[in-house]
Amino acid sequence: MDTEKEAIKKYVLDMWGKYSETVLDHAMNPRNVGSISEPDGFGEDTSECGDTMAIWLRVEDGRIARATFWTDGCGTTIACGSMVTELAKGKTVNEALQIDQEKILRSLGGLPEESVHCAALAARTLRKALQDCLEK
Ligand code: FES
Repeated sequence: MDTEKEAIKKYVLDMWGKYSETVLDHAMNPRNVGSISEPDGFGEDTSECGDTMAIWLRVEDGRIARATFWTDGCGTTIACGSMVTELAKGKTVNEALQIDQEKILRSLGGLPEESVHCAALAARTLRKALQDCLEK
């Protein structure tokens, strides 16, 4: 038990040093988690590490009224899914197509090099969901 507690403490301290407050906030309190039935757009992608993300979009009056996500990935992937759905909300589909990996990274206050691919996964997944909207 003590070993487990020590391991958790070490993990939290490691996280604290490496990630911005924004990343920690979105990882621990993710926004927009879940799915949308009969969405206007859906996208799913899997990263080279094996983590998968899915994004659902609801478009009303030409703007993204709801954007939700799911992932089986780590805390950083959760933070990226949370942020990318926040960024997409309120935008037109064409405006949301401008949201790329760099925009997600800037909005999160950066990520360590080994986690940059989590932002790339979120950007690719959003793009797939947006393309699905355009094809419908
Ligand atoms: Fe691979 Fe986040 S997507 S660790």
